[in-house]
Amino acid sequence: MLTTKLSGADIKRAHRPLHKELLGSSDSMKAVRDLIDRVAPSTLTVLITGETGTGKDLVARLLHDKSERSRGPYVKVNCPAIQETLLESELFGYEKGAFTSAMSTTPGRLESAHEGTLFLDEISEASLVVQGKLMMTMEGEPFMRVGGVHPIHSDVRIVAATNIPLEELVARKKMTEETLFRLAEAIIHLPPLRERCEDIPLLAEHFNHSFCVQQERTYEPLPDSVVEQMQELEWEGNVRELAGCVREYLVSGSSETLKGVRRSEMLEEPFGTTPGRKDRSQPTRTFIPLKEAARLAVEETERRLIQEALEYTLWNRRKAAKLLGVSYSSLLRRIEAYQIGKV
Ligand SMILES: Nc1ncnc2c1ncn2[C@@H]1O[C@H](COP(=O)(O)OP(=O)(O)OP(=O)(O)O)[C@@H](O)[C@H]1O
Ligand SMILES: [Mg+2]
Repeated sequence: MLTTKLSGADIKRAHRPLHKELLGSSDSMKAVRDLIDRVAPSTLTVLITGETGTGKDLVARLLHDKSERSRGPYVKVNCPAIQETLLESELFGYEKGAFTSAMSTTPGRLESAHEGTLFLDEISEASLVVQGKLMMTMEGEPFMRVGGVHPIHSDVRIVAATNIPLEELVARKKMTEETLFRLAEAIIHLPPLRERCEDIPLLAEHFNHSFCVQQERTYEPLPDSVVEQMQELEWEGNVRELAGCVREYLVSGSSETLKGVRRSEMLEEPFGTTPGRKDRSQPTRTFIPLKEAARLAVEETERRLIQEALEYTLWNRRKAAKLLGVSYSSLLRRIEAYQIGKV
């Protein structure tokens, strides 16, 4: 059942400073926080997946902060923001004279991130050639600056993010299977906000409080009716969109304007059902359509077989994929979707 009521402890948590915590009381967010705590201290490379605004940047930062590298640098590269031809020199650095505008020798981000974390945001936007070069450094091999002759070694932990679903990365030739295999030693998936609307009261309260502090306004909790409406929305822009909505609500100052704030998907009537709104009213007796029943049966069988194959191969996912006759990426996708873990 959905509730907007927060406990005293929740309110305290909501009022802590932004950017350091991944808030959410849903089981899926608890699982994500647990995974971060387990993965952060390890040396595993991590691929963070999730739609835009679900918190991938925040998770990358937490992985660094909770790791033994936290005293070292945290270097973020936003791959789509750098022209394809420049990305290689940006990452690996260049020697003076390597190309016309190379006026002086410049170390790349890999070198800058020495003894720290290199976060490659939207990694799928880097060319396969650059991804391949990065893979070699992940194997511990030295690299050379563009135009350079001296091998350089950098001790870097790589964390990457993508909002393209795993199964599409390889199918759309955005990444090779080898790169995915090397890059995704651990996968952290952030579910969309619409699948965890029980997180909305806490998040909305968090943004409400931080904006009030930021703007030196008198703080007041959001009215329950407003939070309830927020829980009914789809949030294509996820947590970022929710933060924007709370801000706009505070600026406009009345729940009346909330209707206009979130465009067409916001409720027209407090209790009405509009196309963007999820109708939570349940008929007294529900039947699963046969098609859905067949899908559930397939899922159940797949889940069991994958679990058995992984146990049989001692969690060698490549071998398991071969035994099951599926590609490696397809197996990874299913492990993630079915939340299969080592027992
Ligand atoms: N669970 C959360 N708790 C608190 N703040 C969150 C949470 N998830 C996201 N945020 C905040 O929402 C905003 C968007 O998150 P972030 O930038 O990490 O998303 P993203 O997945 O990297 O998005 P994009 O794919 O567009 O880069 C940030 O201000 C972030 O701090
Ligand atoms: Mg991001």
